[in-house]
Amino acid sequence: MEKFGWCFIGTGSIANTVAKELIKSDRSYIESVYNRTEEKGINFTKKYGGKYYNDPIKAMDSDKVSAVYISLTNDLHFEYALKAINLKKNVLLEKPFTINEKETIGLIEAAKKNGVYICEAMWTWFNDTAIKTKELIKEIGDIKQAKISFGFPIKSLSKKGRLWDIEKGGGALLDLGVYPIRYAYELFGIPKNIKVSSKIYKGIDTSDSLIFEYDGFNCEIKISITSILSEVALVKGDKGEIKVPWFHCAHKVIHKANETKVYKDNSLLYGKQFTRVEDEILSGKKESSYVSLKSTLDIMRIMDEIRKQIGVIYIQDK
Ligand SMILES: NC(=O)c1ccc[n+]([C@@H]2O[C@H](COP(=O)([O-])OP(=O)(O)OC[C@H]3O[C@@H](n4cnc5c(N)ncnc54)[C@H](OP(=O)(O)O)[C@@H]3O)[C@@H](O)[C@H]2O)c1
Repeated sequence: MEKFGWCFIGTGSIANTVAKELIKSDRSYIESVYNRTEEKGINFTKKYGGKYYNDPIKAMDSDKVSAVYISLTNDLHFEYALKAINLKKNVLLEKPFTINEKETIGLIEAAKKNGVYICEAMWTWFNDTAIKTKELIKEIGDIKQAKISFGFPIKSLSKKGRLWDIEKGGGALLDLGVYPIRYAYELFGIPKNIKVSSKIYKGIDTSDSLIFEYDGFNCEIKISITSILSEVALVKGDKGEIKVPWFHCAHKVIHKANETKVYKDNSLLYGKQFTRVEDEILSGKKESSYVSLKSTLDIMRIMDEIRKQIGVIYIQDK
């Protein structure tokens, strides 16, 4: 089987989680690795393979690298994705794709100009459970109500992690909110109107209550990085309902129409994203049919609109 070499830019928490699944595939392997802190980068290569470089350009710029996976903090997504694109490398870029719409447009245009594939690593929507939910929703009649929540305390307010740092693109919306917002978008499209109320701490949003207004119903979204909220998507129609526990990493959908049915899929979560992205790149595609560039741009526009209402401004917006 033809091998597919990845360059990993960043070896933080999510890079370790995805690498564990990626190396289970016969086709995928890690060719090269860059991380700002050398020791962490070298330890990563010992666990998952690849050669460590202390220069991101050298790590990306090899014929053996078929695509670059970027998992740096949100503020660096644009800068490093652009470096990869300028080297004519295909890119899988962690969520949130960028800080704002302006940066997203910049990357899409650069990728088109350089003829490379670029995609947001919104792994939920590479997975069959989410795709099945979209199909099952057609069986519950006219939608009457939807609720999606996602929240857990990520770090105490006194500790300063990336989520609490405005300069790192912190905040609940960009980090956790992108999942329920994408879920509502995939199921119902762009809302006609959005109402927002948020808790703000040192310039970043720590909790958000969003009402997405659609024709005939509202979707209520709750997000928090300080409180535990049950992670569930619930959609009620006039002929039934759908419940997706742990919707962002779901293995099952509970579907009640005439009878209750449970759809289950126990395949790898992140692994499927990498396999499907590789399939798309190998077949010559320049964008994903699972997570399209239009969808990423729409989501960034929605998040910009929400941030405008709550007054969260990043340096990249100025
Ligand atoms: N798909 C998912 O399920 C998922 C889950 C979590 C996070 N994410 C996304 O993935 C990204 C990383 O999240 P994480 O939780 O893995 O964060 P993390 O553990 O804090 O890792 C952050 C990474 O960014 C690097 N970095 C930070 N500042 C830098 C700088 N100034 N220059 C160069 N490198 C720098 C860090 O390097 P050092 O080691 O040198 O500090 C590290 O490699 C975020 O965009 C996040 O939204 C996705």
